[in-house]
Amino acid sequence: MKRVVVLISGRGSNLQALLRAARIERWRETLNADIVHVISNRPQAPGLAVAREAGVSTEVVDHRAFPSRAAFDAALATAIEAHAPFLVVLAGFMRVLTRDFVQRFNGRLINIHPSLLPAFPGLATHRQALAAGVRFHGATVHFVSVELDGGPIIGQAVVPVRLDDTEESLAARVLQAEHRLLPTCVRLLLEGRVRLQADRVAADVDVAQQLALAAL
Ligand code: GRF
Repeated sequence: MKRVVVLISGRGSNLQALLRAARIERWRETLNADIVHVISNRPQAPGLAVAREAGVSTEVVDHRAFPSRAAFDAALATAIEAHAPFLVVLAGFMRVLTRDFVQRFNGRLINIHPSLLPAFPGLATHRQALAAGVRFHGATVHFVSVELDGGPIIGQAVVPVRLDDTEESLAARVLQAEHRLLPTCVRLLLEGRVRLQADRVAADVDVAQQLALAAL
């Protein structure tokens, strides 16, 4: 079975979208795949309850308990490897990972970022978008590379920016798009129709078309 491990730090709405897609699309039966474990670096993350309610095992690897970034990442890697994942999904995981960690999971590690990368990497992406005055904004799912928010792009979802948008209204619109984008990208990876090959995304499918179908 293709095992998926999801890493979170907070609310867990993207995790919820993944769990919902796995249930509705019956990933276990149709893809021989399942979300098997959720790890949070924050003990209070509401997303842990989301996982538990879906019957998925949870674990906290609290970064504050480790003397260094490298020590935390080593413990995190061990916790992940215990589940022999085909795919590791960073779904609102708010820690920068070390080079060693990223290289260890190269090709199996993806992230969702709330902007149309390479625009607006880092934090406060909706504020950055409003300040820049862009008319379109969105979210990106990408393979994680050593460059922060800089890995090969798998898929993107675009939303309009309205003239009266606040950070909150824009964030809500982007989040809705994220909840379609992430499950679709994960499904394509589980199907083997999208993969990382020589540091580039290779696909046997039109990802943009798949995303457009998911938006219907
Ligand atoms: C999302 O906007 C995601 O793109 C970003 O962090 C947020 C996590 O939200 N990386 P949630 O925990 O999935 O609700």
